[in-house]
Amino acid sequence: MTCINGGQQPAVIFMGASQDISQGRFAPAARRAIVLQQTIDETGKRQGQTMIIKNQTQLTQAVMHVMATSGDDPRFQEIMTSLVKHLHAFIKEVKLTEREFQMGVEQIIKMGQQCNDAHNEVVLMAGSLGVSQLVCLINNTDDVDGDTTANLLGPFWRDNTPVTENGASIVRSDTPGEAMFVTGTVTDEAGNPVTDARVDIWHSATNGLYEQQDPGQVEMNLRGMFKTDSKGQFYFRSIKPEGYPIPVEGVAGQLLKRQRRQHFRPAHLHVLINKPGFKTQVTQVYVNDDPRLNNDPQFGVTERLVGNYVRHDEPGPAADVKAPWWKLDYTFVLRKGDAAMPRPPIK
Ligand SMILES: [Fe+2]
Repeated sequence: MTCINGGQQPAVIFMGASQDISQGRFAPAARRAIVLQQTIDETGKRQGQTMIIKNQTQLTQAVMHVMATSGDDPRFQEIMTSLVKHLHAFIKEVKLTEREFQMGVEQIIKMGQQCNDAHNEVVLMAGSLGVSQLVCLINNTDDVDGDTTANLLGPFWRDNTPVTENGASIVRSDTPGEAMFVTGTVTDEAGNPVTDARVDIWHSATNGLYEQQDPGQVEMNLRGMFKTDSKGQFYFRSIKPEGYPIPVEGVAGQLLKRQRRQHFRPAHLHVLINKPGFKTQVTQVYVNDDPRLNNDPQFGVTERLVGNYVRHDEPGPAADVKAPWWKLDYTFVLRKGDAAMPRPPIK
């Protein structure tokens, strides 16, 4: 909780002003401010505080005080108070101009307008600023230097992925690419297998597009929902992912262009693992030979999540597999926790 001006001086000022207001000794603006203060005080919640703004410092204190004392949700109060504290500090640090403020407002409006059922510009921007990755690391590690097999959800997960048998292919329409066989193992933190877990898989085609972005792919191409077996494993066939450009037609793309940042994500496989009793894990396993591993515009690549995609040039495990083909084995570690599912960014 933050008290402005120590909670003492404003009360004295206010009391003095209040006594004089009926005598018409204050300008209209000051009179309105005093009436506002009286209204606030009548709630009984902000006795002794003032919202008559004196200067920059006291403005921040006044807003923080309102954030800290309004409503009855302590967590919401904590978040809003801290948001105001850092937002005001940022504005002061860069000395934000009125024009720059207007431009910022315009960009936020545009981001909302650029969202639809198949595209989420806000998630794209959060990733481009490293916010998504920071939220992920904070919520999936025990300390600031801890690592995890969790990663970004990204903007393309769909909650209605078709149930698929282990060993099946998720290539549902003619899609060029080198064959890839994946075996994932899911364990708890002690290394015990996690059986009967739901595992959602999704990735882009080699043209850089997810199926819902591409009329050339059938519905749910390169997506599948598996279940871990008695060894905690799931396995399937697909094609080796390739890096792809993030959409640059919107506000996030304009940011990257202005900063002269490259906009291709390194190749990756998306995975979501859900099992009651464990924290739902959302992650991506990155392709180890991708030249952009060290330059991801979404800041998603961690050391732990660089997968060992092994190239094979001998005959493949199925008659229709041509060399080269690829094999990925990866172990995902779940933490005990809430199995709540994320909200799908798109339908
Ligand atoms: Fe992706």
